[in-house]
Amino acid sequence: MVEEVKTASVTLADKEELEEGQTSSDEEMGKLYDEFEKTKRHITLFNRLDVGFVGLGKLGKIAAETINEYHVVFGYDINPDIEGNFYKTNSIEECVKGRDVVLVAVQTPHHPDYDGREPTSHLPPKDFDYEHIKNAVAEVDKHVDENTLIAVISTMLPGTVRREIEPLVKNGRFIYNPYLIAQGTVANDMRNPEMIMIGTEDGKENDDVQVLYDLYDPIVGGGIRFELGTWEEIEALKVFYNTFISAKLGLVNMIQDVAMKVGHMNVDVVTNALKNSTMRIMGPNYMKAGFGDGGGCHPRDNIALRVLNERYHLGYDLFDSIMKAREEQANNMAQYCLSFDMDVVILGKSFKPGLKDDPSGSPSMLVGWYIQAADASRKVYYDEAPDDKEYTYLIHDKGLMPETFNPGSCIIDPYRELQHSDQTKYCVIKHYGNSR
Ligand SMILES: NC(=O)c1ccc[n+]([C@@H]2O[C@H](COP(=O)([O-])OP(=O)(O)OC[C@H]3O[C@@H](n4cnc5c(N)ncnc54)[C@H](O)[C@@H]3O)[C@@H](O)[C@H]2O)c1
Repeated sequence: MVEEVKTASVTLADKEELEEGQTSSDEEMGKLYDEFEKTKRHITLFNRLDVGFVGLGKLGKIAAETINEYHVVFGYDINPDIEGNFYKTNSIEECVKGRDVVLVAVQTPHHPDYDGREPTSHLPPKDFDYEHIKNAVAEVDKHVDENTLIAVISTMLPGTVRREIEPLVKNGRFIYNPYLIAQGTVANDMRNPEMIMIGTEDGKENDDVQVLYDLYDPIVGGGIRFELGTWEEIEALKVFYNTFISAKLGLVNMIQDVAMKVGHMNVDVVTNALKNSTMRIMGPNYMKAGFGDGGGCHPRDNIALRVLNERYHLGYDLFDSIMKAREEQANNMAQYCLSFDMDVVILGKSFKPGLKDDPSGSPSMLVGWYIQAADASRKVYYDEAPDDKEYTYLIHDKGLMPETFNPGSCIIDPYRELQHSDQTKYCVIKHYGNSR
């Protein structure tokens, strides 16, 4: 961490001084080189990248101007009126041909009825419109060869890149690189992003990822978090980041509604106390997917809270939605267990691993309930297999794993940790939640 901070202290101005030979002494120059050496990635000190930037709208124009401070940017937009602090080109070919990297920030608009200024929840779900970005990517690809990396910035729903965008790239190379940027603070967000997200076909680092490191490292300095994943993981990361924000605001505004309806209550007293609850609420806890919430308090409280809507006419019932999600998530896990066509052994009946005989609010028993509801002929056993036949094991409590799983069994691990060993010989292991 300390090293990363140090790296960030070598600024563009330092770099320019070096380039222009203005650094006063060899000693100083040596020091600056040492600082750069410490960076996690290799910033090509004297090589600015040739960057094409296609789509100079609300995001693209300022992003192109910011990148142009560190590299050489050639910008193009079908709207000829857009000017900016970069080389403006008059054709897409001039913009993209022969560039190291081409960034594409063309719109992926929602239908006009779906922007949120008027109610939408009664309307059927509708995806973004991908025609503009598809046209732009196909057009860029016409004018490049394998020496150019096409990095698409535009936001899209998980699955879109593989289905609709990457297949359009036949001449150049493709990478997905959505931005977390807010309007009004584009330039600042470019230099201080929460993270930089990079999607590759298999989620692995490769030479193209290195090109993006070289592009962004000088802009953001050291210590910035780069998140690498498959195209789908990065599409999901971008849109679910926004969902977390919407969900947080939905929850605090619900407390506001309750304050107005119940009386004697200032919403800030509650939300400030929750904001300072760093043990469980604000922080990394409860960010590992697996079983649903459980125990003697949580589900029970939420289930009872459903009465608030009824009593105070809030107009919505988030508690019900949360409990409905918990149930359907258990149902989905149950269907997955059933897909292996064997009776099921659920390791752990209690509501949380490590506890013995406390099934109150048990999320694993909820999964068992859905298994039996879907197929009454399927047997569900808890904690251990009744004999040495083949079963589908579902791990809830790792402490209850047998010395050896029955050969021929399928072991479902929703913690995605179990690896093959003598304990799992002749068994199949499935990491629930990992479809890579
Ligand atoms: N605006 C933001 O702050 C922001 C933040 C994060 C992500 N995004 C995403 O980035 C993408 C762009 O957003 P925006 O707000 O800048 O959109 P925008 O509508 O303001 O800009 C898009 C630009 O692309 C141009 N364009 C369209 N087709 C083109 C083509 N074939 N060739 C060249 N230019 C073309 C348009 O003329 C327009 O100027 C969207 O997917 C959006 O979701 C935007």
